[in-house]
Amino acid sequence: MPEPSLSIQPAGAAHLPALLGLLEGLFSLESDFAFDAAKAERGLRLLLERGDALVLVAEVGAEAVGLCSVQTLISTAEGGPVGLVEDVVVAPAWRGASVGRRLLLAAEHWASERGLTRLQLLADSGNAPALAFYHRMGWSDTQLVCKRRMLQR
Ligand SMILES: CC(C)(COP(=O)(O)OP(=O)(O)OC[C@H]1O[C@@H](n2cnc3c(N)ncnc32)[C@H](O)[C@@H]1OP(=O)(O)O)[C@@H](O)C(=O)NCCC(=O)NCCS
Repeated sequence: MPEPSLSIQPAGAAHLPALLGLLEGLFSLESDFAFDAAKAERGLRLLLERGDALVLVAEVGAEAVGLCSVQTLISTAEGGPVGLVEDVVVAPAWRGASVGRRLLLAAEHWASERGLTRLQLLADSGNAPALAFYHRMGWSDTQLVCKRRMLQR
């Protein structure tokens, strides 16, 4: 029987359990974030409900092997909508097989089609493989530093 091929499509609620597994793997690599399944699910559901955001899932057959999300912001520098790529992760067994490339290109295509003029993302400064991946994908470095202040609920 032929191997099932890779598909990239917008995720739905049925993908949530698999997406949470992928997110847990991603957060374990990022020292600024701790994985909380309830918060991650709430965040994913909010993204799925928004008309100006995209959650992409990469699947091989019925197996979810990658995730990439984008949400829209307004930039005064660009004078219009831009995108923030929030989560990019490929299951360990599938890394190096162009899944990340396909996800990121699909996210870029979605953003271009919607008139977004720039995408940005945050990456852990110690995540050399991810930095090499973004460089290879044509993303440039900036002089920006991410600052954070947590607010009381
Ligand atoms: C980073 C990540 C998303 C890349 O996805 P991937 O499917 O492994 O990458 P691809 O196979 O699509 O690679 C695309 C290009 O990037 C390059 N690349 C990917 N990983 C690389 C690495 N570790 N070192 C150097 N180049 C790399 C590939 O060689 C390829 O270039 P090529 O077409 O010239 O060969 C994936 O490795 C991953 O999930 N890592 C853990 C989670 C993570 O760090 N996410 C990013 C958070 S900001």
